[in-house]
Amino acid sequence: MEKLKITGGGRLAGEVTVSGAKNAALPILCASLLAADTLELEQLPQLQDVRTMLRLLRQLGVREQADGKRLALDASQLVSHEAPYDLVKTMRASILVLGPLLARLGEARVSLPGGCAIGARPVDQHIKGLQAMGAEIRIEHGYVSARAARLRGARIVTDMVTVTGTENLMMAATLADGETVIENAAREPEVVDLARVLTAMGAVIEGAGSDRIVVRGVPTLHGARHRVMADRIEAGTFLCAAVAAGGEVVLRSAEPATMDATLDKLREAGARIETGADWIRLSMSGRPRPVSVRTAPYPAFATDMQAQFMAVDAIASGTAIITETIFENRFMHVLEMQRLGADIRIEGNTAVIRGVDRLSGATVMATDLRASAGLIIAGLVADGETVIDRIYHLDRGYEGIEAKLKVLGARAERVR
Ligand code: EPZ
Repeated sequence: MEKLKITGGGRLAGEVTVSGAKNAALPILCASLLAADTLELEQLPQLQDVRTMLRLLRQLGVREQADGKRLALDASQLVSHEAPYDLVKTMRASILVLGPLLARLGEARVSLPGGCAIGARPVDQHIKGLQAMGAEIRIEHGYVSARAARLRGARIVTDMVTVTGTENLMMAATLADGETVIENAAREPEVVDLARVLTAMGAVIEGAGSDRIVVRGVPTLHGARHRVMADRIEAGTFLCAAVAAGGEVVLRSAEPATMDATLDKLREAGARIETGADWIRLSMSGRPRPVSVRTAPYPAFATDMQAQFMAVDAIASGTAIITETIFENRFMHVLEMQRLGADIRIEGNTAVIRGVDRLSGATVMATDLRASAGLIIAGLVADGETVIDRIYHLDRGYEGIEAKLKVLGARAERVR
């Protein structure tokens, strides 16, 4: 089992390049299924989840052609409409093949993803929306089996804002007969990036980025070329590390325009931030001020940044409140941070963090992707050594994180 060993202390300084966004890449890879053509993608992040998704697409019949930084996906000959459990269980985002397969082939059989560490993660909204579009759906033996001669446009109001639910339904709607309106749609930048690709493939979509997306179905889609947007969560993670440890970092290939809530909160913690179209410079000296956050759908503060801010608050000069409104169990990193000496009390979906002067290094365990990131930040400011176990969680969503941290001067290395 690989571990990450971090030696605390020392400021961060240097420049890193932000990778392509995992949560844009995953739905965009699935969009390739919609056209009997080739989708060429640039800036796909080299992540475990992307490799898993490519494995699933290969099983469905998609052929890949890599040349340098570009990956061409040829989905002209699909050979299966089934996403098997052994793949889906390792990556919940596999559910994103359901809409495209149903729209392209008229049938799909996708294993239910099952829950994960941060919550039950049901997909009832994906199913409700597809049923509204005329799909016959049966749930049996742990699989979603769906059929539809041709999906027809419908007006769908999701019960809550769901990112992959919005993405699944938007993809399915591109080939439906008639117009689909998705009300209460997710406004995340990754939804907008997916809409960009679908539009380039010939889809007719309005309102992506708002809570009302209108899709006018077309008979077929064709290939396109797209560069995946920058990962706003990876970028935010490095900025949180610099606020906690102090120093000055520059992020290249960033998209600050997708990070308003995070940048506002970092400034509130005392950071000085300058931005350009594709870069962010952050400098921080002294102890962070406590910053209270409440997670909510975009453009509000992202749940994927919650653990990282908790690590900053753990050593801030006062008390902060963090409220998690999206997932029912996304505080596992609290127990691990307490092992590092953090003073955190949980009351329901709220954590009260009283900043302490110093954390002390210990062995801790990663429980989910973003919790691992929070533990790295805590380890950077803890006295002595912190060893983070189960860092396979980390590799799912961060491309070469210890190499990038080293560039910034952190003492981090992977150990067996
Ligand atoms: C996406 O997950 C992201 N994953 C998550 O990032 C992110 O935390 C989440 O959106 C919220 O921003 C990808 O994009 C691949 P939701 P998703 O559907 O789509 C409930 C990371 O670390 N819900 O927006 O699965 C659900 O339980 C990951 O990169 C239903 O009840 O999240 C949750 O409480 C973690 N029924 C809430 O809605 C449904 O059918 C929001 O979930 C769908 C969702």
